[in-house]
Amino acid sequence: MTKLSFPKDFLWGVATAAHQVEGNNINSDAWLMEQLPGTMYEELSGDACDFYHLYREDIDLISELGFNSFRLGVEWGRIEPTPGQFSKSELDHYSRIVDYCLEKGIVPVITLQHFTSPIWLISEGGWRSPDTPKKFARYSKKVMEVLGDRVKWVCTINESNTPLQLTINGLLTGDINPAIERATNEAAKYFFISPEEFSPFFPNATDEKSIENLIEAHKLAVEEIHSLNMDINVGVTLSLQNIVELEPCQDAKDVKENINKRFLRDMGRIGDFVGVQNYTTIKYNSKGKVEERENLSDAGVVLDPVSLAETCKLAYEITKKPILITEHGVDFGDEKDPIRIKFVEDSLRELYRSMDEDKIDVRGYMHWSFLDNFEWFRGYNGQFGLVKVDRTTQVRTPRPSAHALGKISKDNGL
Ligand code: BGC
Repeated sequence: MTKLSFPKDFLWGVATAAHQVEGNNINSDAWLMEQLPGTMYEELSGDACDFYHLYREDIDLISELGFNSFRLGVEWGRIEPTPGQFSKSELDHYSRIVDYCLEKGIVPVITLQHFTSPIWLISEGGWRSPDTPKKFARYSKKVMEVLGDRVKWVCTINESNTPLQLTINGLLTGDINPAIERATNEAAKYFFISPEEFSPFFPNATDEKSIENLIEAHKLAVEEIHSLNMDINVGVTLSLQNIVELEPCQDAKDVKENINKRFLRDMGRIGDFVGVQNYTTIKYNSKGKVEERENLSDAGVVLDPVSLAETCKLAYEITKKPILITEHGVDFGDEKDPIRIKFVEDSLRELYRSMDEDKIDVRGYMHWSFLDNFEWFRGYNGQFGLVKVDRTTQVRTPRPSAHALGKISKDNGL
């Protein structure tokens, strides 16, 4: 097969999120939600992958595998544990991580908010409060005052469209919805506020008020960061599923419009790039969503090698901004790791084809995820990692897929 060479300086990396790997994020709303009676979380995040302490070993591994970039989150609840009080020691911690990445030749891509927010923010009305965008922008500026001389890629908010997407697509199934309601009621009691005022981003930010606040928060953060340094690339990341209408279907049109296009227009056009996060294709016929039984991931979503290219194309058409693929992956353990390799390679070939034929400007690919980590409500049951983690010893074992993708990175193509 002919070698497909990606553009010079293409970023090949792995992605993580603070709460999913750091461990002991005790000031964050997810930590609180995990502990509440009747919680929808299957288990506690606890020590997670202890990335907070093991970051040097992890960055060594990322470099040894051959990657040239690393997407990681900084945790708002650690950096600003009480309103307006910024922890120098936590900012120094993230600064050391950035320095270590650079020392190892790894380009750091920072996410400022990946689903979790400080507990105090949520008890002050959370994402439904009109004050939250300004608070987010203030925090973003503080972080970038410290990291902005070395970090050139920043994602403001991860997947503002995910809560709505989960609701509209009926992905919060079984006991999850009643559990969310129970946990929300418990949390509201704890803070002496109404359940309506308790609004964590994940999974509650589904109403128009929260969405408008998220858009405003992104816009203000972009402005604050650019006021410090115009050379920093700032963007939002969005969860984009490839929606295919086999037959005309209103549900498909609504999902495409309300989940993909609206967020690309209102958020994606603000900033310097768009972070595309894609995991699947959803097909619709005239009756609605088609139930698929083949080519499924362990989480039950369809693996379709064209979905990544198609969603990048949509994002580029709507925003005309460069694309950074900030997540793409599949939850498979060791046994199905060969399927992961094939899926990623096929997806990259389709991506290459689309970059060539459709002239879409893609700057990098960050695989989700570097490590098997805390998969939110599912606890440690998802295995998205290129690298397996022993939950007792924290020993990391790269899967063959880690080496396969590392090689693609070293060769800048396949
Ligand atoms: C999220 C990650 C999550 C992944 C796999 C993405 O939507 O950003 O935090 O682990 O999907 O479910």
